[in-house]
Amino acid sequence: MTGPSRPPLGRMDGRVAVVTGASTGIGAAIARELVRAGGKVHAVARRPDVIIDNVGTDAVAAGRCVPHKVDVSDADAVRALADELRESDPVDTLVCAAGINVPRRRVAELTLEAWHELVAINLNGVFYCLHAFLDQLRANQGDLVVISSVAASWPDHSGAGYGATKSGLLGLARGAGIDEHANGVRVSTILPGIVDTPILDNRPIPPPSELREWCLQPEDIAATCLLAVTLPPRANLAESTMVATRLQSLGKTQQANPELPPSLRRGE
Ligand SMILES: NC(=O)c1ccc[n+]([C@@H]2O[C@H](COP(=O)([O-])OP(=O)(O)OC[C@H]3O[C@@H](n4cnc5c(N)ncnc54)[C@H](OP(=O)(O)O)[C@@H]3O)[C@@H](O)[C@H]2O)c1
Repeated sequence: MTGPSRPPLGRMDGRVAVVTGASTGIGAAIARELVRAGGKVHAVARRPDVIIDNVGTDAVAAGRCVPHKVDVSDADAVRALADELRESDPVDTLVCAAGINVPRRRVAELTLEAWHELVAINLNGVFYCLHAFLDQLRANQGDLVVISSVAASWPDHSGAGYGATKSGLLGLARGAGIDEHANGVRVSTILPGIVDTPILDNRPIPPPSELREWCLQPEDIAATCLLAVTLPPRANLAESTMVATRLQSLGKTQQANPELPPSLRRGE
């Protein structure tokens, strides 16, 4: 979608997005937000039934959200989706939110299998998507949004394997930006702090409900994503760090888990 015909800030009318990781958490919230803003979303995850539940049966029935069962670590499957959409519904926005962490994440307990799974989904999966959709993003002067993490900037409880993939994404996005900005492809990286999503259930000690109330919500990241992709084409929100105000600050992203801040401890 070229500059002059772009809808205004906050609107996605006439635009077509692919959102990975769209079955739960941040990706589902982004899919809902882009649909709410008038866009059409091709929603990608391994569980299409959960996409329908969380993005909404109305959006699916109206053809505004199209679920796709694709594993982003399968380069051929990602390529097949891109080939299909190039013919039927060319894409101007690619949001890469699919990601995982593993419960046993301390560096001494990280297995080779876990390392390879983290790299396959969190890092390779984003490159496979960018590689497969880049021609459509170029043709439509489009947007790539990468969901990295504050773990790319500062070490925290999320572990060395996860941090390595999220730092890798920062390098990938920066490299893609420098290579593609003159082609009209706008690359934005969002680095969230702690967000209350199902990924937290995979922590060795899942955060208690009291702490989750203080976390970012997926909708906070979705609002940032919508801003990034609907700013005028001249403006690139290149990197955005968002932390949970009462729990984190820049450089202090080690979440209060298992230790809670005094104000959140039971009985106080
Ligand atoms: N929550 C946080 O505190 C936080 C902070 C910083 C960054 N992030 C990042 O935000 C992104 C979204 O995570 P979330 O917090 O929203 O967690 P989440 O609710 O667990 O969402 C993860 C999503 O990724 C999808 N996914 C996982 N493996 C996949 C694969 N191989 N192929 C396709 N889809 C796959 C999952 O869907 P299926 O299982 O259906 O495939 C799900 O939709 C991740 O990249 C995460 O690293 C999260």
